[in-house]
Amino acid sequence: MVNVSIQLNKDITTPMYLQLSSSIGNLIKSGKIKPKEKLPPIRKLANDLGVNNVTVVNAYKQLEANGYIKAIKGSGYYVLNLEDKPTEKASSMTNLEEDEFLEHEDIKLMSNGQIEISSNTINFASTTPDPSIFPIEAFKNCLNEVLDRDKGYAFGYQESNGFEPLRESLCSFLEVYTNITVKKEYIQIVSGAQQGIDIIGKTLLNPGDYVITENPTYTGAVSVFKSRGAQIVGVPINESGIDLKVLERQIIRYNPKLIYVMTRFQSPTTISYSKENLQGLLKLSEKYGVYLVEDDSLAGLSFENFDESPSLKSLDTKDKVIYIKSFSKLLMPGLRIGFIISPENLSSELLKAKHSTDISSSGLIQRALHLYFEKGHWEDHINYMKDIYKEKYEAMLKYLNELKKYGINFTEPKGGLNFWITLPQGVEATKLYLECVKEDVLIVPCKIFYVNNYRNNDNTIRLSYAATNLEEIKAGMKVLEYSIIKLLNKSKSRTYMSPMI
Ligand SMILES: Cc1ncc(COP(=O)(O)O)c(C=O)c1O
Repeated sequence: MVNVSIQLNKDITTPMYLQLSSSIGNLIKSGKIKPKEKLPPIRKLANDLGVNNVTVVNAYKQLEANGYIKAIKGSGYYVLNLEDKPTEKASSMTNLEEDEFLEHEDIKLMSNGQIEISSNTINFASTTPDPSIFPIEAFKNCLNEVLDRDKGYAFGYQESNGFEPLRESLCSFLEVYTNITVKKEYIQIVSGAQQGIDIIGKTLLNPGDYVITENPTYTGAVSVFKSRGAQIVGVPINESGIDLKVLERQIIRYNPKLIYVMTRFQSPTTISYSKENLQGLLKLSEKYGVYLVEDDSLAGLSFENFDESPSLKSLDTKDKVIYIKSFSKLLMPGLRIGFIISPENLSSELLKAKHSTDISSSGLIQRALHLYFEKGHWEDHINYMKDIYKEKYEAMLKYLNELKKYGINFTEPKGGLNFWITLPQGVEATKLYLECVKEDVLIVPCKIFYVNNYRNNDNTIRLSYAATNLEEIKAGMKVLEYSIIKLLNKSKSRTYMSPMI
């Protein structure tokens, strides 16, 4: 029987059983505990570590679910040969383990949603709109009008579910732009989609619960789910949406509390789900009684001649979809405004979670946004945004098409804010990132977005055109080409000369 030496830290938020399963998992991965060895009995290990038996039981269950160990009835827990381990496993990695892989300080920052930039940086990493296109005048007028009209009331506490007239405007907005019919009672205003995800996590998740996400996915959502002590199971995504076969297997295996998806211009892959895929997803949710969380923050920016695919919520007849929408990408992120459409039976729980988080989102901003809709500014604004983004999209697309000769590949998203580029053989995304950073160009290497198995995935990058202008796109794409050539030549597969430099 193995004699394991493990340190647990009671002062950090990661639950003890996760710390324990992660430590034992590391010892197994590093070969310090070998295949076929027997793990200490539950009571003995609990005694040695000064924890409850339940902590050890849960840790062993976790390791078993992740394919590290196997229980043999009446005998105990034995270490499995890792080569036999299934590849689609729940991520049991703690932040500490991830740091081993995210070895570069700036990649670590990026994976936490932060980016360090100087004034010269060409920023293809950020999906934040360029502030020079924000509708300042129109919004200023709405703010002033609210202050004249509502006086001190604009600075009072707002109802926790949100300013009623704004919720009414949002019902019309949803009807027109997303084909969703909803009553204002089921709209919950939140301070951005990030808070929306957070209060959904607070409402539905307990430590040890499972959450399924697309793999790759939005890192901000993963951090929320992990902060609730949830285990993340990634399911691959293909050109028509999430892989429904793998999804069903993982639902049966892990019995998740929720499935988090971005069905339109998914980040980072830019995929929009087909209607068949959406319907398949709804069927699985009904069959297994699991909530679907649809983060629709990136929809609304599709370019001419391209009909956006429907949202999941618009097809949801069983009230199983929790829909999140933000005005950060379409209007201004600093407003910190978004909303949730809640299934009927969850609305009071979500309201409680919102109240305990920050009581309410800013009443002044909600009132101004309501006027902004009432005065009909939205239609003009969104058309203006689409024109600007389309121009940038087409500029980046042109350069990307030129780079195809080096073996890059991508699907044209026809909207949204990003491209998702598969790199030529021999060019690793992390190395390409480091080459570009030397020239002050920021791109996002794919491993940031993978919830598991990311060691095998280092051949894609996400490029966003949201925060850059046309000149920067041109200059940044030159750097990208130069860096790809450099890495291709290093990989010695071929020698390339750059016509663009
Ligand atoms: C898919 C997705 N969801 C949510 C968010 C958070 O946005 P918000 O500013 O609305 O909190 C982001 C931000 O980049 C995002 O990309």
